[in-house]
Amino acid sequence: TNGYYEERYRPHIHFTPEQMWMNDPNGLVYFEGEYHLFYQYHPDSKQWGPMHWGHAVSKDLITWEHLPVALYPDTLGMIFSGSAVVDHKDTSGFFDGKPGLVAVFTHADGDLQRQSIAYSKDHGRTWVKYDDNPVIPNPGIKDFRDPKVFWHEETEKWVMVLAAGRKVQFYTSTDLKQWTYVSEFGEGWGEQKGVWECPDLFSLTNETTGEKKWVLPIGIDAGAPSGGSGTQYFIGSFDGKHFVPHQSKETVRWLDYGKDFYASQSFSDLPGRRVVLAWMSNWQYANDVPTDPWRSAMTIPRELTLSMVEGQERLIQKPVAELTSLIEKKMEKEPFFLQEKQSTELDQPASPFIWEWGVEIEKGGVFEARLFGKQDGGLRVRIDRGKNTLYVQRDRADLDFSKEYACTCQAPLNGDHSSFHLKLVCDHSSVEIFLGDGEISMTNVYLPAADHEAKLKMEAVRGTVEVKQSSVSELKSIWK
Ligand code: FRU
Repeated sequence: TNGYYEERYRPHIHFTPEQMWMNDPNGLVYFEGEYHLFYQYHPDSKQWGPMHWGHAVSKDLITWEHLPVALYPDTLGMIFSGSAVVDHKDTSGFFDGKPGLVAVFTHADGDLQRQSIAYSKDHGRTWVKYDDNPVIPNPGIKDFRDPKVFWHEETEKWVMVLAAGRKVQFYTSTDLKQWTYVSEFGEGWGEQKGVWECPDLFSLTNETTGEKKWVLPIGIDAGAPSGGSGTQYFIGSFDGKHFVPHQSKETVRWLDYGKDFYASQSFSDLPGRRVVLAWMSNWQYANDVPTDPWRSAMTIPRELTLSMVEGQERLIQKPVAELTSLIEKKMEKEPFFLQEKQSTELDQPASPFIWEWGVEIEKGGVFEARLFGKQDGGLRVRIDRGKNTLYVQRDRADLDFSKEYACTCQAPLNGDHSSFHLKLVCDHSSVEIFLGDGEISMTNVYLPAADHEAKLKMEAVRGTVEVKQSSVSELKSIWK
């Protein structure tokens, strides 16, 4: 059972390990009424180190129960990132004809990275590593890791996508044990500044055109738009062997424009929707964020859909509907106008809370909203119609754990619109921002000052702004 955490900065609507270091979500799978979340875990320290798979389960994607470590390092190495699937038809032969869970992960031994599998006959509570691991030896590529596996209906085969340097490779299998290399994608494509990590691959139907597309998200360990690690994605087609992008080589699409959204992974075997979780940190400072006795959190689970935005095909990202089950109290404000340079303040409740607003900004105008304010500091969200850009500025002068912490993230706004709707999901150490229907998301760790003002501020920096809607919802803790 869960304790009720009172530590400073402890998230109350986000998953965190009880203590010690966590990075990527792993093995996300839905099986017989339970969501499984495994994660890169170092149980002996708040620093990255010999990787294990930590484990938690949920019945609603929101409240989690901590379970014992699922996979420990062994003679083949540490247990790096990977995925899990339900082997419905017992193709592996591990399950006496019944469905069971198979985990596919990277064994990392120094610089040697190979892929291995493990299986569980008791809903993920205990795991047996396969005798003939590794199932894919290293082909002579240094960064060769993070297998994501799924069942490809049309070809009736398992497909694995994994990171291989600055590209991805595809393998197929009929039994999850024997794998055949089929193709690779990515050399010279998209953002190439960092090593590619943690790929995913799934199909979505474009809600505007009705066309079925394949989406290939990929982490890059450096060179993301806000600095450090971040997540790009490609859209294309996939026939079970080859991924064909529907874009130019130079096009780069970002899943999130904030500083802290990495190693995202979607749940396997979840009927009817595509839900992702990401690690809410950045390799630039992940090891130094001053939280105790744990380090790092996951994002709110998000549902992904695909549609046309201003003539471009884009992923749309929304917090899962289940999040609203945490709302305890909602305060709404009547519409009002702010003249140029005018500002107004609303009460900022204790975290966690959701602040939603809709504003009408005149051409060339600038609107700013501030949370966790303190003198000049705080977290500022700025919509600049002159520059057609959304900015998020993260300040806190007294925090010096990393020079990369104080920063400004930005995302280009599409088209020339005057109406903007934002949803800000705020916890004790993060703010996730969704613009419009979720066509832009910006995820940031934010560590509020102990004595920040309990005020939310809205200001018409340039031009007149109509605040057509503003509501603040107080949320209850998932750990209570
Ligand atoms: C991404 C990553 C993965 C790797 C894991 C190791 O954050 O570097 O590529 O498997 O973390 O913990």
